[in-house]
Amino acid sequence: MKTKDSKDAASLRGAQQGPVRTEPFHSSCYVSGQEEALLLECLRSHQWSSFKGGTEGLDIDKVLVMPSREAAEYGPLDNRFLGGKYVRAFERDFAACMDVDFAVSANSATSALIMALGAFNLEPGDEVIVPCMSFNATATAVLAYNCIPVFAEVKANTYCLDPADLEKKISGRTKAVLVVHLGGACADMTSIVEVARRHGLKILEDCAQAPGVKFQGQPVGTFGDAGVFSLTETKNITCGEGGVLVTRCPDIAAKARLIRNHGEGVTRDQWSDGQLANVIGMNFRLTELQAAVAIPQLQSLEERNEVRRRNTSYLIDRLRKHPCLIPPETEPGGDYVCFMLKWRYVQGDLPLTRDEVVAGLQAQGIPIIKGYGRMMHENLIFTRKIAYGRQGFPFIAPWFDEKRVRYGSGTQPVSEDLNKQFIWFKYVNHPNTQDDMDDVVRAFDKVLV
Ligand SMILES: Cc1ncc(COP(=O)(O)O)c(C=O)c1O
Repeated sequence: MKTKDSKDAASLRGAQQGPVRTEPFHSSCYVSGQEEALLLECLRSHQWSSFKGGTEGLDIDKVLVMPSREAAEYGPLDNRFLGGKYVRAFERDFAACMDVDFAVSANSATSALIMALGAFNLEPGDEVIVPCMSFNATATAVLAYNCIPVFAEVKANTYCLDPADLEKKISGRTKAVLVVHLGGACADMTSIVEVARRHGLKILEDCAQAPGVKFQGQPVGTFGDAGVFSLTETKNITCGEGGVLVTRCPDIAAKARLIRNHGEGVTRDQWSDGQLANVIGMNFRLTELQAAVAIPQLQSLEERNEVRRRNTSYLIDRLRKHPCLIPPETEPGGDYVCFMLKWRYVQGDLPLTRDEVVAGLQAQGIPIIKGYGRMMHENLIFTRKIAYGRQGFPFIAPWFDEKRVRYGSGTQPVSEDLNKQFIWFKYVNHPNTQDDMDDVVRAFDKVLV
């Protein structure tokens, strides 16, 4: 009864005085500079994807380990196993921005995650530890090479992988950890790298939500063996769809490039089994058209991130007067370029539940959401072990004791409790301004009176 009354009260406040906001917020997908000019130039070049599956006179062994800077120096049609002019220019710029030798673009971050895991030379049944809180692709990419995701808790203040729980989840079969810099926050890379190296694990960083974010002055994505970024429409920079893998390791770059581009067609007789493993060539190529848009988007990354930082701190500061709203914290030395602002709502003695606060804010015209419907470990693909076919593969396989790994609600209690408290707001991006943030503040003030 109390719940219904309080819900009515919350929406009544909105209805009586009219919503705070009637206009939609601005999306993060916008033109920042040369996109139109480059796109038109690319269209008129009639080379919309210059990729080829062969190396046309170039030595494949040299092409595969060529730094992105060097690959960009070839003419538009002179190094087509690595793509055309725009793809290679974008990769050169991305590698420079991250201060690494290799950037390997892809048609999505999901593809780039798969490329990285394949390039780690994982075997079927190998375990990869993944924080349970992320976008589904972080965990499902692990299945692509028939490896097994093992979920771990996130820290209650940053929502990124908890290094202590990571260590608890390591088994004799663990080969890699997939760290997520969730929501634009940094995971605690000092501790995670220390734990991973002590146990001989490979590290893949999922930075889909954190391009340009730094931890102790170093870009995330460059602490482990490889890092992955997304260029899908909702992200800080975008070309519609796309992804990028970065690495300092020539072998990882080489295999990622093979997986991206039908690599089985260029293999050599003298290659070892290790070199051939996982080169089941896909087509994960970014088009020239997308790269032409991605180049100027990347140039605007820092400017865009600065707007996110500014709007986020403004919003967090203005809402501190409501002690029931707990903002995320950053790791010491960590940057925070908010992708999605995630408060925890701690109800205590207050009359409104989290869901009622969300409904009240929505009635005020603020597109606030609740958090994950299901976290990754709660998804049916894991709880019912239905992935490839209906017999439970790869969870049930001759080389794997399926009872070792547990999925489902109740297995990650810390993260599940956090998810029940979440209130998320995403429009901290340019061109939203302080005035837009003021609408959010006014709406919270009305609902949380
Ligand atoms: C954390 C995270 N990982 C991976 C992905 C997958 O990226 P994409 O859509 O580019 O495949 C996303 C979002 O889309 C994401 O947020």
